Amino acid sequence: MSEPLFNRIAIIGLGLIGGSFAAAARENGLARSIVAGSRSARTLEQGIALGVVDDGSQDLAEAVKGADLVFVSTPVSAMGKVLAALKPGLSRTAIVTDGGSVKGNVISAARQALGEHYSRFVPGHPIAGKEKSGVSAADATLYRDHRVILTPTDDTDPAATAKVRAIWTAMGAEVLQMSPQYHDQVLAETSHLPHLLAFSLVDTLARQGDSNEIFRYAAGGFRDFTRIASSDPVMWHDIFRENKAALLQALGLFSDGIDRFRDAVEKGDSDALMGIMTRANSARAHFMAMNGRTSYTRAQLGEDSIMTDSSKANPTYLMTPGGKLNGRIRVPGDKSMSHRSIMLGSLADGVTEVEGFLEGEDALATLQAFRDMGVVIEGPANGQVTIHGVGLNGLKAPEKPLYMGNSGTSMRLLTGLLAGQAFDVELTGDASLSKRPMERVAKPLREMGAQITTGNEGRPPVRIRGGQPLKAIHYDLPMASAQVKSAVLLGGLYAEGETSVTEPAPTRDHTERMLGGFGYAVRRDGATSAVNGGGKLTACKLEVPADISSAAFFLVGASIAEGSDVTLPHVGINPTRTGVIDILKLMGADIRLENQRDAGGEPVADIVVKSAPLKGIVIPEALVPLAIDEFPAIFIAAACAEGDTILHGAEELRVKESDRIQVMADGLAALGVDHEVFDDGIRITGGAFGGGEVQSHGDHRIAMSFAMAALRANGPITIHDCANVATSFPGFAQLAGHAGLNLEVK
Ligand code: S3P
Repeated sequence: MSEPLFNRIAIIGLGLIGGSFAAAARENGLARSIVAGSRSARTLEQGIALGVVDDGSQDLAEAVKGADLVFVSTPVSAMGKVLAALKPGLSRTAIVTDGGSVKGNVISAARQALGEHYSRFVPGHPIAGKEKSGVSAADATLYRDHRVILTPTDDTDPAATAKVRAIWTAMGAEVLQMSPQYHDQVLAETSHLPHLLAFSLVDTLARQGDSNEIFRYAAGGFRDFTRIASSDPVMWHDIFRENKAALLQALGLFSDGIDRFRDAVEKGDSDALMGIMTRANSARAHFMAMNGRTSYTRAQLGEDSIMTDSSKANPTYLMTPGGKLNGRIRVPGDKSMSHRSIMLGSLADGVTEVEGFLEGEDALATLQAFRDMGVVIEGPANGQVTIHGVGLNGLKAPEKPLYMGNSGTSMRLLTGLLAGQAFDVELTGDASLSKRPMERVAKPLREMGAQITTGNEGRPPVRIRGGQPLKAIHYDLPMASAQVKSAVLLGGLYAEGETSVTEPAPTRDHTERMLGGFGYAVRRDGATSAVNGGGKLTACKLEVPADISSAAFFLVGASIAEGSDVTLPHVGINPTRTGVIDILKLMGADIRLENQRDAGGEPVADIVVKSAPLKGIVIPEALVPLAIDEFPAIFIAAACAEGDTILHGAEELRVKESDRIQVMADGLAALGVDHEVFDDGIRITGGAFGGGEVQSHGDHRIAMSFAMAALRANGPITIHDCANVATSFPGFAQLAGHAGLNLEVK
């Protein structure tokens, strides 16, 4: 057995916090012996009887003798006296730490009481608790997956801090470090204030005449809101007194908020009311997602329990080989159109209603950004979103950088849209987005007069200087990119004159079509699209069809799995998006479009696909931009086809959510599929292949493509890092499982 971290730990104050510390130290073998100091003989007896501590003393100086770690978990108001009482027994090298919820006052008390020993004092605060108190509630797992905040001062010995950090970490806690002042302010706002409010609400109602009568009708909301009013009054009395200054400041903030709310209620101002509540909704979802390091969607659905299970936060797909796909599969709304519906709806005059909105992470990042810029947006609920447009010049400066998550479309289109605003703004993203090129949009916008800087090597963060007058330009796109085209056109809405863009090959034209839907004239002439600045968008109703890029996985899955027969209803079949259908048909796929119709300016159809033997082809380069997001799925079709499939002219795949040529090649290699990588494409030789482990590198489309490969693999496939499937296809695992894919999420 390895050496324990400490020889002897003394716990001073043996309640829930101290008792749990002792129990966790014991369970994890972190000390040779554990003793307690408490004024109460009964508590000591109880602790020894429960096996939480080995021994105890009512004399605190006696209790700490020979201890190399002393953990003080008495009420904060008693801390000064307790430290003074134990000091005579402290050995020279003993480390003292505490669990108090207020740090400023505890630190002053410790400085005074410990004198020259103060440098060995490491102030700490475990953010954990229960409604139950006392040593009998001690729980060895109380701190597991909880946070502990350490607030060492300049005089604290860093070696002592490191040892205290080590013991908390060994108990399974996540240790954070901050200044005592910041700790007290943050805790006042996030813990002390809500406790005060809960106590106050119950007390206020209880004082009213017949409180029994009120409480009889009090339902879930009251219970949820006031749960913490069951906490220990003595402890909270202490905390409210000890953290007075920070608590008063937090209360001030809160009363300002209540005043704003009261005002909105009084005036019946529904925009203001909706603004407060939708911002609160989404702020809470952000907070849950951040804490659980999980997807925004799940947090928004309120599946709070998921947040503690980190394996669910980044799932692995376990695929059992074989199976076929059948039935009617309604895939979620189109991602490109969902982004644009929020952007244009926000800039329109009037209220825009959207149906079929994609409630995936990427589109939600766009939605959040516009909320952060003051737009009131209701929903999404069941794909319905209501946007209270603020007009072309109505956006407000956001208070912090706009976080775009994984979404390249959000960042690039917003760069264009924000280039002509009156305010400064910064756009940031997750690890994958932070590696993607942004100069491609910054460059033409600078030519228009925008002031934009990008980070290292032209990557995020993107910083935009407000108040720059833009002038129209003509831009010849150096690459076939709908995002760059859209960014320039959106910038053009704010430029003087006609901004025009010519593309080297057709790319998705949702921006142009949707601008038209909002009554904004777009001149289209062959490969050129143009807008005049200074017009007006008028709110409208939008219907977002199902996303052909999400349907693509089922087009491939049903084609390759014998006996499959799938109908994908109401899929967008804009000709700038249907390359995947053309390519699969060239390979021999059995795909039919039924019930073709127009849905608000975009063509849609029900797509029927049945399994068919596929053959390898040379993919026509003209189809590449029209199928740019579907290549991961097409590569799987190629692996199941007879002969070679050859792709060239697709270098853009290297700068998507991952380097899709290399990451797909690595996955194909893991399954034993013969292939050869080119700078701008790949050769894949179809045939039988096995199972294996695939890394999706956080790329949603890689994960879903390899999930489909299992239909034809000879062994199980494990796909890692699948959290980002939620960026474009929330509910994929469930829907695909329902259709017949053997997928287990771990
Ligand atoms: C998109 C354009 C494409 C595509 C992306 C969505 C859009 O990107 O890959 O998923 O909505 O405009 P590029 O413009 O970089 O080709």
